[in-house]
Amino acid sequence: MQRSLTGIKPTNEPHLGNYLGAIRPALRLAESFESFLFIADYHALTTTRDPEAMRAHTYDVAATWLACGLDPEQIHLYRQSDVTEVFELSWVLACLIATGQLERGVSYKDALAKGEAPNAGIFTYPVLMAADIILYDADVVPVGRDQLQHLEVARDVAQRFNHVFGDDVLRVPAPKITEAPLVPGLDGQKMSKSKGNGIPLFASAKKLRKTVMKIVTGSEPLEEPVEAEGSTVYALYSLIASDDERAEMAKRLRGDDYGWGHAKQELYEGLERELGPMREKYEALRADEHGLDRLLKEGADRVRPTARATVDRVRKATGISR
Ligand code: ADP
Ligand code: TRP
Repeated sequence: MQRSLTGIKPTNEPHLGNYLGAIRPALRLAESFESFLFIADYHALTTTRDPEAMRAHTYDVAATWLACGLDPEQIHLYRQSDVTEVFELSWVLACLIATGQLERGVSYKDALAKGEAPNAGIFTYPVLMAADIILYDADVVPVGRDQLQHLEVARDVAQRFNHVFGDDVLRVPAPKITEAPLVPGLDGQKMSKSKGNGIPLFASAKKLRKTVMKIVTGSEPLEEPVEAEGSTVYALYSLIASDDERAEMAKRLRGDDYGWGHAKQELYEGLERELGPMREKYEALRADEHGLDRLLKEGADRVRPTARATVDRVRKATGISR
């Protein structure tokens, strides 16, 4: 079975866009791979300066994925920081990556263009990411398009290492572009934590309903027929409803006794059906940080031998050890 691996930065509390755009598709994909999923806490440190937030978001992310259906017996779930071999490999890879390639990094270039003084962690972000991937002999890395450049660095450095130090020491990973749906936020733009247009994933039912009611719509009176296509309510509903249900909502909106308010109520009910049971699980998991620690540690213990084996091969190939 091919091995797939991906990392999630613990930088915010997950919203509906993360669930429909990343978590749900990733869990479906994981069914056909041996999957590694880790919390990229040391990557988050390139931008986070709040230890409480780091701790809390690490638990938020772990509890969220578990509540959404991640089976820790099937998917290796761990903290990046719990397998310190990644730093040893990171150094070795850094010695094979040209600074020019890192200077072309989009995040680094963006920071410079904005007049910021980026830290070395932002500059070397792709090196640590390459180590994350190569350490576990990943075959495929499911990522969004924004991560393609990072994947290119990982592929290049694995190939270069093999070219210089011997064939087949490192596995060369391939990106798997996840064509996840773009989930719109309350204002119709891409749902994003930073835009304040998010629908929180595990808010109470009451808060969820209140938030759904804030979705921006036209102001046509009830009797006026409206086109479902192109509206945010319908776009969100389409992500959780069956084809028949979608068609039914579009038909009703074209009728004269069903308006945006009804559509929002139906969207809320659909969301509550899908999220309600997960919310209960989330709350129980999130309340038990020791339990989450134990689970993450078990995950790390399970993947560490693979990491150790890679580092041993690398040490041998480079002449660091016999
Ligand atoms: P945010 O934009 O809120 O900061 P992140 O960048 O942390 O979200 O995204 C984490 C994951 O969730 C990524 O895989 C990203 O593609 C996905 N994601 C975030 N927002 C959306 C959205 N509105 N639609 C689809 N996927 C999304
Ligand atoms: N850079 C990724 C992001 O911002 C997170 C990440 C870190 C990652 N290491 C990884 C993703 C390794 C895939 C593989 O979303």
